[in-house]
Amino acid sequence: MTMHFDLPMPARALPAQAGATAAHAVQTAHDALARTRHSVRAFLPTPVPLDCVQSLLQTARQAPSGANLQPGHFWLVQQPLRQQLSDAVVHASRHGPEQAEDYDYFPRPMPMQLRKRQVAAAQALYGQLGIARGDAAARQRHFEDNYRFFGAPVALIVTIDAAMGAGCYMDLGMALHALLLAAHARGLGACAIGAFASFPDTVRSVLALPDAHKVVCGVALGHADPAHPVNATRTAREPLASYFTVLGGG
Ligand SMILES: Cc1cc2nc3c(=O)[nH]c(=O)nc-3n(C[C@H](O)[C@H](O)[C@H](O)COP(=O)(O)O)c2cc1C
Repeated sequence: MTMHFDLPMPARALPAQAGATAAHAVQTAHDALARTRHSVRAFLPTPVPLDCVQSLLQTARQAPSGANLQPGHFWLVQQPLRQQLSDAVVHASRHGPEQAEDYDYFPRPMPMQLRKRQVAAAQALYGQLGIARGDAAARQRHFEDNYRFFGAPVALIVTIDAAMGAGCYMDLGMALHALLLAAHARGLGACAIGAFASFPDTVRSVLALPDAHKVVCGVALGHADPAHPVNATRTAREPLASYFTVLGGG
C-alpha cells in the first residue's frame, strides 16, 4: 500500500481549535503508519535515490538513545560489492562452517509460548508463498532470498561497536524501527534481515569491516511489489493483557 502523510503544522502555531484538530491528525497519521507497517519482502526495480536513503537515516537517527550515544552504523552496500556479499553469504550458509554470532538474538532454548509465535509468523510467510511445511528445499530457496536482500534496490548492513552493551542494541532497535516507519511514510517498503547476523565473519570479510563492528542485521528497502503474494503476509500481535499489567492504584 502506498501512503503519503503530510504532517500538519506544529499544533502550538495554530489557534486552540485548529491546534486540537492538527494534533488529532498527527495522532491519526502516526497510528495509521505504525499499524499498517509490515515487512516487505519483494520489490519493484524502481531505484531509490541516495538522498532519499540519507533523509530516511537522518529521520531514523532522531530516535532516542541512552545518554544520546546514538550507537550503530548503517552501511549502504552497492554493486558489485553487494553481489559479492550475497554470493558469499549464500555460499557460507550452504557449505558452512557455522559462524559464532556476534550477539544472541533468541532465547536458547526457545520457550514453547514464544516458539508458537515464531511458528505462526513462519506459517503466515510460507503460507503466502505456497510453500508446504515439509518442503525444506523450497524453504531453503526462499531463505536464501534474505541474503539477496529480497532483490530490494537498497541494501543496508547494520553494525554496532563491540564495546556497546545490551542497552545500546535497544537504542539501535529504536532507530531501526524509526527507519522502517519513515520508509513506510514515504510509500516505501522495508524488511530488517537478522539472517545476516548468522554470518558475521563473512559480512565483515567481504565488506572489509574492522572486527570491532558487530553485525546486527541487514535491511532491504525499496518500492514494494504490490503483486507479489509474499507482501500480503500479515502477522498478529498478542493481546494487551499478555504484556501489560497495572500495579498499585485504586
Ligand atoms: C531485527 C529484525 C530482524 C528480522 N530479521 C528477519 C529476517 O532475517 N528475515 C525475514 O524474513 N524477516 C525478518 N524480520 C521481520 C520479522 O519477521 C517481522 O518483523 C515479524 O514477523 C512481524 O511482522 P511484520 O514486520 O510484518 O509486522 C526481522 C525483523 C526485525 C525487527
